[in-house]
Amino acid sequence: MCGIVAYVGHQEACPIIIKGLKRLEYRGYDSAGIALLNKSGLNIYKKKGKVVALEEELKSKDTTACIGIGHTRWATHGEPNDRNAHPHYSNHKKLAIIHNGIIENYATIKQKLLQKGHEFRSETDSEVLIHFIEDIQSELNCTLVEAVRLALQEVVGAYAIVVMTEDEPTQLIAARKSSPLVIGVGEDEFFFASDATPIIEYTKDVVYLDDNQIALVRNNELKIVNLENERQLPYVQKLEMELEAIEKGGYDHFMLKEIFEQPRSIADSMRGRVNSEEGSLQLGGLSEYMGKLADAKRIIIVGCGTSWHAGLVAEYIFEELARIPVEVEYASEFRYRNPIIREKDFVIAISQSGETADTLAAIQLAKSKGATIFGVCNVVGSSIARETHAGAYTHAGPEIGVASTKAFTAQVTVLTQMAIAVAKKRGTISEGLYRQLLIELENIPRKVEQVLKAADKIKEIAFIFTYARNFIYLGRGLNFPVALEGALKLKEISYIHAEGYPAAEMKHGPIALIDEDMPVVFIATKDSSYEKVVSNIQEVKARKGRVIAIVTEGDSLIHSMVDFVIEIPKTHEILMPLLSSIPLQLLSYYIAVMRGRNVDQPRNLAKSVTVE
Ligand code: F6R
Repeated sequence: MCGIVAYVGHQEACPIIIKGLKRLEYRGYDSAGIALLNKSGLNIYKKKGKVVALEEELKSKDTTACIGIGHTRWATHGEPNDRNAHPHYSNHKKLAIIHNGIIENYATIKQKLLQKGHEFRSETDSEVLIHFIEDIQSELNCTLVEAVRLALQEVVGAYAIVVMTEDEPTQLIAARKSSPLVIGVGEDEFFFASDATPIIEYTKDVVYLDDNQIALVRNNELKIVNLENERQLPYVQKLEMELEAIEKGGYDHFMLKEIFEQPRSIADSMRGRVNSEEGSLQLGGLSEYMGKLADAKRIIIVGCGTSWHAGLVAEYIFEELARIPVEVEYASEFRYRNPIIREKDFVIAISQSGETADTLAAIQLAKSKGATIFGVCNVVGSSIARETHAGAYTHAGPEIGVASTKAFTAQVTVLTQMAIAVAKKRGTISEGLYRQLLIELENIPRKVEQVLKAADKIKEIAFIFTYARNFIYLGRGLNFPVALEGALKLKEISYIHAEGYPAAEMKHGPIALIDEDMPVVFIATKDSSYEKVVSNIQEVKARKGRVIAIVTEGDSLIHSMVDFVIEIPKTHEILMPLLSSIPLQLLSYYIAVMRGRNVDQPRNLAKSVTVE
């Protein structure tokens, strides 16, 4: 969490940094700050709240400078306030730092520095790091970059940092370990950021810093070393992202834009992979590992939140089509419970951001036990994408709304393709079903467009339930994870308490909650458990619950039983989650908007959770 941006070059640094911080606000938004270096020296401005509050504050200040560092925070150590906001000064106020991550041994370092007379102005671990760097530099009388390197050798934890000094107006020093950092290489200018979005409009040439690397920019030159001070060659890559992809494009919120992008994002996640005419399905990243996957005794899927839900959908599909046992694990639980991992286990890690700390740690654990790890990530070049043996990108494009929408459907699309491909390889799927699924997959984007046409109707339903205090979401089979995902979407952006359950589990407890004030969302599409779900709907109606049902088009039975229906087109049962999840995204979106919530940046959340 936390977003960092820095600039050195010939342009005004402040507007570039502020704009960049706004783009990174999805990573945290409880305080923001900037350090600028000009003739008057190093000036730091910090403000509790969003980047706009900082921007307001800066209106009355002299912000001329061609070098600066900025930060938007998601608090870990120390409450969100002006003091704990970044950048932080060193003891003598000559150095400044921005930091994303956690310094785990900060307390021990701080103790030593306190004994040496350092005075701390905040409660953060990050301030300790810059004092530590300053201390090393003055003790050893070495260069700043050397002091940074020696300090980082002592540090336990995760970091992406940028350090600047009053003494060097053309110099920025950056380093990373387990937190992302991208360097944009322009014409006599350099940009640093947590992801490429603050950089894209200035240059497409970027260097993704690797773990344990330190970058020094000085007098328009970039030099990279590792923690052992060995020179590393910067690998300059071309960004493929376009600027429009990270702007709202006329929508009120990124979340709404991203929901409406799904016909395109799902198509992109199949582009060059599925061809029903030729009967081919090929995921480049999988080809080398297909033998291992097809031979796997077990598949273990790890992820968090929405990505974990995508894993649950995949569990049904892999088991149904490929007949390989699947276990889906919360990465945070998996990593700490000494899991049994055997040589023939195939691990799939799912992550939109590719930076989730728990998922990364789960991968590292599984890897250390000899498992093959395959990543399904959205962010290209992310830590998880690089830590896995192989992977398939979801190609959903940047997802900026904190609530995941298009990334979820893209993850499910990629995982479905994997399951179909491995089923084909293992011979557990008939040629007829294989062909039918490829055709149906290709039809999904068009059908998603059709689902999106129900937006106005869903808005009306949202209006009726705006002030509901609780919601229950029920589904069976593949629609059970969809129910979980629907409930998560609602709670995270509207702050309404919502629970997802397998529909049949309701009678083992949650049914006690049902009365005329309880909205119950059923995902009741025509599939193998349809009749059973109809019975569950009757059980809710008998207790006066108010039912909103997601049904397959033309379903008159459920229509006659419930309060509201939202129809979605027919497709193969296996692919239904790609359609049934979309009305739930819209329902939670409209309820949250009607309740006046900050949809794109809900309270207490951040888009990429780089702390455990
Ligand atoms: C919910 C949401 C989160 C993420 C979770 C994992 O809408 O976005 O639950 O799914 O934090 O994030 P990634 O997929 O980036 O690993």
